[in-house]
Amino acid sequence: MDFQFTEEHLMIQKAARDFAVNELLPGVIERDEHQKFPTEQIKKLGELGFLGMMVSPKYGGAGLDTISYVLAMEEISKIDASASVVMSVNNSLVCWGLETFGTEEQKQKYLVPLASGQIIGAFMLSEPEAGSDATSQRTTAEDMGDHYLVNGTKNWITNGGTASVYLVIVQTHPEKGSKGINALIIEKDTPGVTIGPKENKLGIRGSDTHSVMFQDVKVPKENRIGEDGFGFKFAMKTLAGGRIGIASQALGIASGAYELALKYSKERKAFGKEISHHQAIQFKLADMATKVEASRLLCLKAAWEKDQHLDYTLSGSMAKVFASETAMWVTTEAVQVHGGYGFVKEYHVERLMRDAKITQIYEGTSEIQRIVISRSILG
Ligand code: CAA
Repeated sequence: MDFQFTEEHLMIQKAARDFAVNELLPGVIERDEHQKFPTEQIKKLGELGFLGMMVSPKYGGAGLDTISYVLAMEEISKIDASASVVMSVNNSLVCWGLETFGTEEQKQKYLVPLASGQIIGAFMLSEPEAGSDATSQRTTAEDMGDHYLVNGTKNWITNGGTASVYLVIVQTHPEKGSKGINALIIEKDTPGVTIGPKENKLGIRGSDTHSVMFQDVKVPKENRIGEDGFGFKFAMKTLAGGRIGIASQALGIASGAYELALKYSKERKAFGKEISHHQAIQFKLADMATKVEASRLLCLKAAWEKDQHLDYTLSGSMAKVFASETAMWVTTEAVQVHGGYGFVKEYHVERLMRDAKITQIYEGTSEIQRIVISRSILG
């Protein structure tokens, strides 16, 4: 058991921290207010290798481990969770899915530009009537011999307006249930693809969330990932890793709010002394620090298991449920420590509190994580 980070880990952490402070912090309040996608910042994140962190250099990635990814996600999320969700989806869902299960041709054509940040991707599972119940896919892909004909609507799609390449979960053989589902690579510019209006959200308002409609979209057979019927397993395996990314995002939101509360408590005076000298505040800070550290350890454990090629489904879900609930609690307490100042935008904690909520919802709600965990421990 070794709790030391390597020199390389510390370097990545510092690079992510510097980027967050220098490039993301300026303008984060305005981007949140006006729902402005961080276009320039995402481009730079791509150039620095943060959009294909774990992809082999052979396919344009940075070739780093999952521990580095957790460290970078925490630093970026402390400052701007709207940017870190783009990073998480591109790394964990799109690049990992393609590198692990794609053909060599698919990797050359799609993974190389995605991992090097020239384009970004989107992962499309959720539908108007299929969120938690992921086998109830209504988007169909009719087998037409050499191609599929795709019809349906996907909802709540992160990067829905900005992505150039989509990984889309579709139903091909409804009579086969989860074994009739496929995963297809669909290019945004394919005729019949329409992007719906941008969602007006509570949090992560700088990220780009849309519904995407498919009407008689022709997708060549060579764009299917894996064997016919592999789509549900593809989605579940990909989401298991995605949950480490979102857990790390929640960790960053929580640790960012905790650090702001700690700093503020040493500056703000009440009843003749800094509020950090009041036990009511000290106990809050102690609980925040403990929960943040526990979240960090769960994230790192899941990342370590993934790097060791062990099964990380259980640890990833534990990390996600704990870190996201911690994020909601810590950010709410951070607003409380700030008092009235916490309720206004300039102090950042109200945004972190709004951003925290989505980590309990996307990539599997807290309830879904508890299903995954209880199935695993009960066998
Ligand atoms: N790894 C591999 N295979 C898995 C698996 C995993 N983690 N989980 C399930 N499977 C397999 C099962 O073994 C089963 O295969 P067999 O039939 O061969 O045994 C098959 O998949 C079907 O599994 P279940 O019977 O367990 O399926 P279920 O209908 O009971 O659903 C669930 C299980 C865990 C609830 C699943 O539906 C789920 O995870 N739902 C949540 C979906 C989700 O996370 N959505 C998020 C959307 S993406 C997003 O949010 C991105 C974003 O914007 C940031």
